Amino acid sequence: MDDLVLAARGLHRSFGSLEVACDINFALAAGARHALIGPNGAGKSTLVNLLTGALRPSAGSIWLDGVDVTGLAVHQRVRRGLARTFQINTLLREMSVLEGVQLAVLERGGQGRALLGGRAGQRRAAEEGFDLLEQLGLAGDASAIVGALAYGRQRLVEVAMALALRPRVLLLDEPAAGVPPADSHLMLEVIARLPAGIAVLIIEHDMKLVFRFAERISVLVAGRILTEGSPAEIAADPRVREVYLGGRAHG
Ligand SMILES: Nc1ncnc2c1ncn2[C@@H]1O[C@H](COP(=O)(O)OP(=O)(O)OP(=O)(O)O)[C@@H](O)[C@H]1O
Ligand SMILES: [Mg+2]
Repeated sequence: MDDLVLAARGLHRSFGSLEVACDINFALAAGARHALIGPNGAGKSTLVNLLTGALRPSAGSIWLDGVDVTGLAVHQRVRRGLARTFQINTLLREMSVLEGVQLAVLERGGQGRALLGGRAGQRRAAEEGFDLLEQLGLAGDASAIVGALAYGRQRLVEVAMALALRPRVLLLDEPAAGVPPADSHLMLEVIARLPAGIAVLIIEHDMKLVFRFAERISVLVAGRILTEGSPAEIAADPRVREVYLGGRAHG
């Protein structure tokens, strides 16, 4: 159990009378490649929000590296190595791609550090940010304004910013959703080449991608983990076929 970087124990959460998380037990080992699948409305994004701290569970606990973080805010969990892809907000839309990634590098050190670091710190952050953009094939967009980029490129910037935090755990909620083919291959490459040491949880509806990427798969149905297993086990599970891979599945 020592190598578990993220664990959820007995999570519950409801929206009114709708139970969206019911006794969720879940764990990621260091460097895991784990997919969370399930029909629309199963509660997948809700689980990510519970893990990051954007949403509070009504019962249960969340652990990062063996520390109970259930009471910690989102940014405190980020400092402890839990990252999800950034949402592109108004502020970020007006920055250049490099400025956005630089901001995430500085954020990792804490804002105080950013101020104390002065110009030298800013420059180091810009250099590190540019290296990261090169690794992701985004260097050509470094000086482009984020908000002016094509949607698929913006999603890549979100991943770049998450990686700039040097997380131990990365949560990807449908990273390629709505990304046109011209950019989606780049996203798939970036996902395939994520650093081995980072535990990755991906929510994805594209089963080809899921089965290529994941070493473990959890299936969420109506707020409950139906089952968890290797891709082969999940593919062979008749209950999974019935609720998800079967006739009622969606695109
Ligand atoms: N803030 C909220 N208030 C009320 N209901 C919500 C809220 N967020 C989500 N829900 C409901 O909770 C259920 C689970 O939603 P969630 O977004 O977690 O599903 P999902 O598995 O991510 O679905 P999708 O595959 O469509 O992204 C849905 O019925 C949704 O309508
Ligand atoms: Mg969702």
